[in-house]
Amino acid sequence: MSFVLGIPRNFKYVKVNSLDEALEMLKEGAKILAGGQSLFPLLKLRILSVDNLVDINNLDLRGVKENEKEIEIFSLTTHNEVASKVKILSKVAFTIADYQVRNKGTIGGSLAHADPASNYYPALMVLDAKVKVKSKRGERVIETKELFRSPYTTSLKEDEIITSVIIPKSEKTVFSYEVYKRGGSAYPTVIVAVSLKNNKYKVSFGGISEKPLLIEGKVEDKPKEHVIEQLREIKAISDIHADSNTRLKLAERLFISAFNRALEGKSDEINLQPMDIQWKSQPLKAYNKVTIKIKVNGIEIEDEVESRTLLLDFLRKNGYKEVKRGCDEGKCGACTVLVNGRSVKSCLTLAVQTVGQDVRTVKGLEDIKPLQDSFVQNYAMQCGYCTHGFLMVTYDYLKNVKKKEDELLKYSIKNICRCTGYFNIIKAIKNASLSQ
Ligand SMILES: Cc1cc2nc3c(=O)[nH]c(=O)nc-3n(C[C@H](O)[C@H](O)[C@H](O)COP(=O)(O)OP(=O)(O)OC[C@H]3O[C@@H](n4cnc5c(N)ncnc54)[C@H](O)[C@@H]3O)c2cc1C
Ligand code: FES
Ligand code: FES
Repeated sequence: MSFVLGIPRNFKYVKVNSLDEALEMLKEGAKILAGGQSLFPLLKLRILSVDNLVDINNLDLRGVKENEKEIEIFSLTTHNEVASKVKILSKVAFTIADYQVRNKGTIGGSLAHADPASNYYPALMVLDAKVKVKSKRGERVIETKELFRSPYTTSLKEDEIITSVIIPKSEKTVFSYEVYKRGGSAYPTVIVAVSLKNNKYKVSFGGISEKPLLIEGKVEDKPKEHVIEQLREIKAISDIHADSNTRLKLAERLFISAFNRALEGKSDEINLQPMDIQWKSQPLKAYNKVTIKIKVNGIEIEDEVESRTLLLDFLRKNGYKEVKRGCDEGKCGACTVLVNGRSVKSCLTLAVQTVGQDVRTVKGLEDIKPLQDSFVQNYAMQCGYCTHGFLMVTYDYLKNVKKKEDELLKYSIKNICRCTGYFNIIKAIKNASLSQ
């Protein structure tokens, strides 16, 4: 059997319309597909293989419900939606990856994936959040701190699905959050979350050890000394991003800054316009070869694909060569296109997922001229290989993030330019945003 890096082993793909169908497939050993932003890199690297993939994006598990006691975030709510709708998690969700990953990646998928540097775990742990899970056997509720077992392993059973995350509400809770990450759309190196309530504190560290660390105590019992003492006892991760010493030093510094902010009594938050992202489409089953129709730039393209065929390959094969393959693992953004008006990485999207959705490249956007002009006037390209991807994500960002602060731009557009023409690219983006 030949091994092709970047292409998953084939699987049966089913986009279901009801939770019952999904649970039935899980009982028979299928794997859930939510945003695909962690699953596809694993499948493409063949670290993981699946026989049956159940796409749950048609289920009514999206959005946020709130009453006086709690906030319930349904599991398919994307990171960009969480950032824009759940004030207390706005900084947590908006500092995940980049704009495209946040358009597709979901809170449920992130918790189930259980990366030791996941943005959500430390925050949800200090906020006493719980997750609701369902299976054919019924429903149960798990505390977030009990959900994470070890890297990439949770206490979920194979037939269970996370349906929502519940955060208790309290006027008295003050929450602060710090994240340190290297360049590009890298995972954080260190995360610190702090909550203060009724003279009690909780601190959680992510990214420094195999499991997010939770430390709690009373504010009058020398919290800074106590937390730092505990930090120094742990065996910190050492990798190419930072050695264990650097991680611990960073964690200490970020903790002091987050704790001091919390003592001032004001929670960290980012104010964003509420966003609604739509990934529903008709139910579909695909196995091996299947003929599909995808609307690209307003024209229906019919082609035979395998269920594992990436949208990137579908587009390039059908002549949309402006869409580029770069890293092929979801980092560089060269392959970015718009689906239903939102920028996504076509190397982390299956062609079959976009049946019934609206796919656009630069050639299908009539109102892109001012942005293109800004790139030309600011000499924002050298070889031009990354330009299409930059235009796509910038177009979405300018349309959907109404405030154009430097901090928001920094956490949004993280595409890679191999010619390193960032200075002019940023200038072009900023100039274009002035005319919005
Ligand atoms: C370039 C890049 C950078 C990233 N940087 C960050 C970062 O800075 N911080 C961060 O936190 N994350 C980061 N991520 C991960 C991202 O947040 C993913 O969106 C997330 O980890 C997985 O969510 P998903 O919806 O994409 O899940 P999927 O990829 O679809 O699924 C992930 C796993 O969860 C399972 N699953 C999905 N939904 C459910 C459910 N409802 N119930 C039970 N199981 C489920 C799947 O079967 C699979 O095993 C990054 C990803 C990429 C590609
Ligand atoms: S992000 Fe898709 S090719 Fe790099
Ligand atoms: S202009 Fe050459 S890769 Fe960006």
